[in-house]
Amino acid sequence: MKALTALALAASVLLSGSAFASADLAKKNGCAVCHDASAKKVGPTWKDIAAKNKADKNAEATLVAAITKGAKGKYGKIPMPPQAKATGDAAALAKWIMTH
Ligand code: HEC
Repeated sequence: MKALTALALAASVLLSGSAFASADLAKKNGCAVCHDASAKKVGPTWKDIAAKNKADKNAEATLVAAITKGAKGKYGKIPMPPQAKATGDAAALAKWIMTH
């Protein structure tokens, strides 16, 4: 019974974790230092990124690759360093960014 409760608890934590794909996730991973929904910072806005990748059928995969491996030359001269610590959240972040 105890194991079942622990399992249910773990599942609910996991579920709420994926529903958490939001501004909080971007803040937690340090993305908000360089990105904002609509205010230009060091990096392009989430809106610009969503607009630029809208036509890409594999947009989410493209964004995951940019997040984990870094990106450069697509928006300007400043490159984005790889965000290795965000690897576990990259898919959720990519999905959320494309909703802008
Ligand atoms: C040090 C500043 C910095 C941080 C921190 C940062 N970025 Fe970026 N990001 C940039 C810059 C600059 C670009 C534009 C690169 C280019 O011109 O190709 C960019 C581009 C991107 C792109 C566009 C990729 C594409 O192919 O269109 C995505 C998606 C992105 N960042 C997501 C994130 C996420 C998610 C995080 C947090 C895990 C993050 N960034 C953290 C600076 C940053």
